[in-house]
Order: sequence, then C-alpha cells, then structure tokens
Amino acid sequence: MGPGAERPIDLAGGARVRVPPILVALTAQSLAWGLCRFVFGDFVGGGIAFALASGVLAAGIAATFRMAPWWIPVHAVFPAAVLLTSRLSVDPLWFLGAFVFLLAVFGSTFRTQVPLYLSNSRAIGAIAARLPANRAFRFLDLGCGTGSVVAPLSRAFDRGDFVGVELAWMPYLIAKLRARIGGNRHRAERTDLFTMDLSQFDVVYAFLSPVPMPELWRKARAEMRPGTLFVSNTFAVPGVPADETVHVGPGQRSLHLWRM
Ligand SMILES: C[S@@+](CC[C@H](N)C(=O)[O-])C[C@H]1O[C@@H](n2cnc3c(N)ncnc32)[C@H](O)[C@@H]1O
Repeated sequence: MGPGAERPIDLAGGARVRVPPILVALTAQSLAWGLCRFVFGDFVGGGIAFALASGVLAAGIAATFRMAPWWIPVHAVFPAAVLLTSRLSVDPLWFLGAFVFLLAVFGSTFRTQVPLYLSNSRAIGAIAARLPANRAFRFLDLGCGTGSVVAPLSRAFDRGDFVGVELAWMPYLIAKLRARIGGNRHRAERTDLFTMDLSQFDVVYAFLSPVPMPELWRKARAEMRPGTLFVSNTFAVPGVPADETVHVGPGQRSLHLWRM
C-alpha cells in the first residue's frame, strides 16, 4: 500500500522509520500507564483517579508525538472508559464478538488509514452522468467497500466492465456477494489498490482519505492513459487543481475530476 499511511519518525543519524498511528497510540498509553504506576505505586487499581491521571498523561505524550488532534481527547478518556466498562457485568463474549466484527469491517484501517463510509446517491449519479452510454469502457473503484458504487453502475451501463478492489474482509465479501445477485455485473477482488495496473481502465474512482492521495496521484499520473478520467470523492490532490469539481454534499463534499 502507499507509504503515506504511516507516520515517519526521525531517528538519530537521520534515519526514518514509518510507524502506524495505532502503534504510536499504544506507546503513548503504555508510557503513561507505566509512569503513573511508578509515581502512584500501590495506588494502581485504585480506580478512576489513576485512570484519569494516566489518560491525561497519555494525551500529553500523544501531543508530544504530534498525533492528529482528534487523538488527544480519545487518549484522555480511554483508560477511564476501559475501567468503567470493566466494572459492568457484561459477558466477555460480547466484547470478543464486537472485536471480531470491527476487525472484519475496519481491520485494514490499521494499514490503510481509510475507514469504510459509502458514496451517496448524488455522487453515484454524478459519476454516471460522465460515463459513456453507447460504447464499451472499463471502470475501477479503488477501495470499493460493499460495492455500493460498482453495483448500481454495473446495472445501469451494460457496456461497462466494472471492477472493485477492497482490502477489508467483510466489505469485500459483501461486494462479492452482491456481484452475484440483483442483476449486478461487477467483479470484486480482495486486493491492495496500489497493486492495480491503472492503465487497464478508462475511469478510476477513489473515495479514500487525505493520507493516500499524493501517492495515488503519482500512480495515476504514471499509469493512466491520456484522455482517461480519474475521480476522487471529497479528497483533493494537494497542489493539483481538479479539471472539474462537482458538489455532491452533504456539507462541502465534492467529486474532484481530472482528465489525464
Ligand atoms: C470510504 S470507503 C469507500 C467505499 C466505496 N468506494 C464507496 O465510495 O462507497 C474506502 C474503502 O477503501 C478501502 N481501502 C482503503 N485502502 C485500501 C487499499 N490500499 N486497498 C484496497 N482497499 C482499500 C477501505 O477498506 C474502505 O472500505
């Protein structure tokens, strides 16, 4: 996958390592817990005061590590939330079930930093308006989720060949299942989008996050054929104005289109 998803950390001597944010978060929480334990000693297990102190310290460490701002309140409340939840008499199997479910839906986010959320019908309509109605073409959805874009388009354009690639297991399996029902004609593959050969496609669509966009743009520029269309929902390419921008909502959400 694109290297932009991980956080570069400078080491002594100028070397750089790339660390997934979740590992940075784990480090912040572990350091804070260890320091609090060192300071409070036997007070460990003493309850909410310890958890709050540990959380605030973890938030400070995360800020020092320059984690994204939204991580800071998450760090601050995390130990207290764990403590309070552990006091509820909930069967641990529920937590295991929830963990397995989240892993199946969002597990790849650990690597990609792109969670699952779906294009709305206005975005799909705007894409459809730019697809050729009377000639064959190939369409690729990079990170197709549950097939929410390729499935309806494949029904509407019988001369189009629609492919979706997806890393996360559960969305991929849903996209794969949908390909067999309801008249859908797309193909779903469980593949890292960065391994795809974009030269094979006339339209390439992505709805990802700001993280992979610079690397994805370099790949699109290197591989896509002249005259083909690259579309990004919501996330612009830094420093590269789109040829066309279509507002699809909600809020400021837009499709950005580049003619290669
Ligand atoms: C925001 S969702 C978009 C889903 C669908 N394309 C849509 O517009 O409704 C992005 C999807 O991309 C997937 N994804 C992120 N990085 C990926 C990668 N490197 N290779 C394959 N899929 C990836 C995520 O798992 C997620 O399901």
